[in-house]
Amino acid sequence: MAIRKRKPNGSAPILEVRNLTTYFYTEDGVVKAVDGVDFFVRHGEVLGLVGESGCGKSITSLSILRLIDRPGEIVAGEVVFEGDDLLKKPMADMVDIRGDRISMIFQQPKSSLNPVFTIGDQIVEVFEIHEQADKEAAWEKAVGLLRLVGIADPESKAHTYPHQLSGGQAQRVMIAMAMALQPELLIADEPTTALDVTIQAQILDLIRELNEATGTAVILITHDLGLIAEMADRVAVMYAGRIVEEVEVETLFKQALHPYTQGLIDSIPVLGAVKERLNTIPGGVPNLIDLPPGCRFAPRCRAREEYGLSICTEVEPSLAEAKPGHKVRCWLYEDHSGHDAPLKPREAKARKKDRP
Ligand SMILES: Nc1ncnc2c1ncn2[C@@H]1O[C@H](COP(=O)(O)OP(=O)(O)OP(=O)(O)O)[C@@H](O)[C@H]1O
Ligand SMILES: [Mg+2]
Repeated sequence: MAIRKRKPNGSAPILEVRNLTTYFYTEDGVVKAVDGVDFFVRHGEVLGLVGESGCGKSITSLSILRLIDRPGEIVAGEVVFEGDDLLKKPMADMVDIRGDRISMIFQQPKSSLNPVFTIGDQIVEVFEIHEQADKEAAWEKAVGLLRLVGIADPESKAHTYPHQLSGGQAQRVMIAMAMALQPELLIADEPTTALDVTIQAQILDLIRELNEATGTAVILITHDLGLIAEMADRVAVMYAGRIVEEVEVETLFKQALHPYTQGLIDSIPVLGAVKERLNTIPGGVPNLIDLPPGCRFAPRCRAREEYGLSICTEVEPSLAEAKPGHKVRCWLYEDHSGHDAPLKPREAKARKKDRP
């Protein structure tokens, strides 16, 4: 697996998400979809946001753009974009920010395009809303963008409707729209899962080119760690509504600290290897309405069993720096001496064996 060579990390954050908390108030109870999430994205960097299905990745990105509808609500936190807290802005300002300064591409490109307008008109509309460009110039720009994202014969393709496009073409159009105003931040939520492998690679190249050519920072959301290895500079790992680890991509693959991240890495399919079963992490993501006490990963955690710590199922660990630039939310790296005696794995195993 080729890991992307990281960019120098000197630059300041463009986005800082602090204690972001988004709940859904359903008949069954309160779904804690995003529950105190902290991370940042530097200028020009690609941040990977990974985690299993249902852990809150999409709701995090929709919350950043304030696209949460009832029964959902952002109940706490800050989303500081270039020094301004977006959660404090009037909603009207968000319309300007979306698309112009932060744009988003979604998992299902076709459902995100408007079926009753041609794709040319939809791109033109982006320019008209944000730049008051005249129609003819905007159309020329739209055709130019379609060419840039690799749509063949863009002059006539601009006159077609979304249903006439393949999945890959629709995703290219979404990227063209996302690129139209050269945003400072692009949020790409599973941008390639609906596409076949060759098209996937082309779409990822496009996102990477956008990042490298214009310096647009990217949040790449995926559950595919292979993709993270190729594309991301830094990675935030999410589990059950919380960030559990955050580190540069090289370190993540060399030395993941959180047992959940280690499990995800162990589940990466090895190309060419014949494996009957992947080493998926046993069990599933907990019910976000009724979360277990202590660490949310504890019920599935091999390390907890091995170390025999009782604190894991009683008190939740904090997201703390275990090493410079490497944050993890796990009792194995936090002082728990007031609760359990610190144990080495071998001792823990031996102790388990001694038990009757
Ligand atoms: N409208 C809603 N009402 C109730 N719960 C919701 C709603 N939308 C999302 N959720 C819940 O919020 C949690 C987080 O969902 P989210 O879509 O962010 O997951 P995800 O990490 O993006 O998953 P995937 O990888 O499948 O896209 C899930 O448990 C989901 O069921
Ligand atoms: Mg999602």
